[in-house]
Amino acid sequence: MCGIIGYIGPRNASEIVVEGLKKLEYRGYDSFGFAVRANPDIKILKRVGKIGSVTVQELGLPNSNLAIGHTRWATHGSVTEINTHPHISQDEKIIVVHNGIIENFQAQKKFLESQGLAFYSQTDTEIIPKTIEYHMKRGYDFVEACKHSLKHLEGQYAIVALHKDENKLVAIRKEAPLVIGVGEGEFFVASDVPAFLEYTKKVIFLDEMDLAVIDKNISVFNLTKNSFVDRTITNIDWNAEQARKGEFDHFFMKEVYEQANTLERVANIDETLIKEVAGEIRKSEGIFFVACGTASYACMHGVYTFAKIAKMHINFCLAHEFPNFKHFLNNKSLVIALSQSGETADTLTAIRAAKAAGAKTISITNAMGSSLMRESDKTILARAGPEICVLSTKAYTSQLAILTLLAYELAGKLDEGKEKLKEVVRYIYYLTSEHTRKFIQEIAKNLRYAQHIYLIGRGLQYPTALEATLKIKEVSYIHAEGFAGGELKHGVIALIEHGTPCIVFTSTENEKEIISNAMELKARGGYIIGVGPNNNPVFDVWIKVRESEEANSICQIIPMQILAYQLAMLRGCDPDKPRNLAKSVTVK
Ligand code: AGP
Repeated sequence: MCGIIGYIGPRNASEIVVEGLKKLEYRGYDSFGFAVRANPDIKILKRVGKIGSVTVQELGLPNSNLAIGHTRWATHGSVTEINTHPHISQDEKIIVVHNGIIENFQAQKKFLESQGLAFYSQTDTEIIPKTIEYHMKRGYDFVEACKHSLKHLEGQYAIVALHKDENKLVAIRKEAPLVIGVGEGEFFVASDVPAFLEYTKKVIFLDEMDLAVIDKNISVFNLTKNSFVDRTITNIDWNAEQARKGEFDHFFMKEVYEQANTLERVANIDETLIKEVAGEIRKSEGIFFVACGTASYACMHGVYTFAKIAKMHINFCLAHEFPNFKHFLNNKSLVIALSQSGETADTLTAIRAAKAAGAKTISITNAMGSSLMRESDKTILARAGPEICVLSTKAYTSQLAILTLLAYELAGKLDEGKEKLKEVVRYIYYLTSEHTRKFIQEIAKNLRYAQHIYLIGRGLQYPTALEATLKIKEVSYIHAEGFAGGELKHGVIALIEHGTPCIVFTSTENEKEIISNAMELKARGGYIIGVGPNNNPVFDVWIKVRESEEANSICQIIPMQILAYQLAMLRGCDPDKPRNLAKSVTVK
């Protein structure tokens, strides 16, 4: 996944795109680049590495009213300056930045080479400016050439293009996010809202196959409808502060800390929507939760919670595995997709398979206007605010809370569920307090050199163990594995040696069984860290998290989020932008 930004208007475009790109760095940070229209030339700059805090002055970018920028997560072509966006046509007049994948780029490249066009990079992106150039050489103007070029591009892509001789931007969206910020006599175009949130909250979410031409005004042409279309302006209810770190060193800890507020928002969610979605669930036969990564553990929480509270059987399937089960779907089926970004390619593929089979689709996402939201029949917005850190924390606990409320509504006890959630919110202020953070930091010091960490839980603590495992792995780079406690004796216990750190999640409901697992680990030398309501002699360390029943999943993950953060800090890892990762996996 990559980050795109463009600007046209009276301000200094170079400043806007440099500062805006910094807010998109979580989307990919292998390299970055800019193109600035400084009549009569186009200044292009490319750098390998993260944009960090570099300034316009340090980059030497000229003042301008029109500029584009790109931060790259490499898919085709290694991380080199030459492969860094923007990419240009052979006549050096057409400049493009791109997020996504052009699946037929080899064939298109061969064709363009046969037409005398030469290539300088290993990227798929480079065929875009050269395809536009090919069409302009056949007499089309820049905009028409862009339209005709799309007929030759297969795959998922968000593209922003400019032409050396024209004071306009062309923005194209196909299965990859692209949003337009509407200011006073100025326009922003970006992969995500935080890039321009400080300038405007008025946004246009482009639709599939929209091509927007932006100069002093904006016109949107839809290539599927083959006609101009009106796109409404939406007011985003985020504020610029939410997209800044504030007094925190990293977005990670800021977003962990925000969870009391974000969960309070869920506790006060629009009941009508919860009841509507619950109504869809009641009348469906064959219901699947689908998601990837952290969102998939929220789904697992949902399966346990719906079984326990609503006495309902819900299937769960990893989104990328879902095609193996789509033949079960019919027009009575319901597929519920969870996704923080609403742009995860595998999750979108699953929801599209569901719709193709005639199933109803519901999504729980944190991204207003995302592809998932637009392609689902109904959406519950997590309303956790922008989640900038690559790791999902506050969106995850909001997903847990929404699923818990749905389960309570299905049991006819929504008020009880909301009360329980409000009770938990008060406790979360304590769990995210400075006091807890310092306590967890001491524990992290004992784990910072660990080679392996094992985590176990039963029932609702099983998905918690899996999510805690992912948090530790993806930000501290320590190998960690999460298991259901009952799996221990079926092979896993062979891994335990003297001093192996083992994190054991307990709850009143399964305390006896999981403590017996903890004893088996201890007997083989394990260093036992207990997380739960009651201390126990088997624990070497105890992280007290009071009993919250179905809300245990929400409360017990928070100390683990903090532990992962502290481990990253102790190990010199970047908590917001871990190596090899991107915030949303928009490619399969
Ligand atoms: C979360 O910490 C991970 N970065 C990752 O597993 C993420 O949850 C997954 O890629 C799904 O993303 P989504 O929720 O935006 O669909």
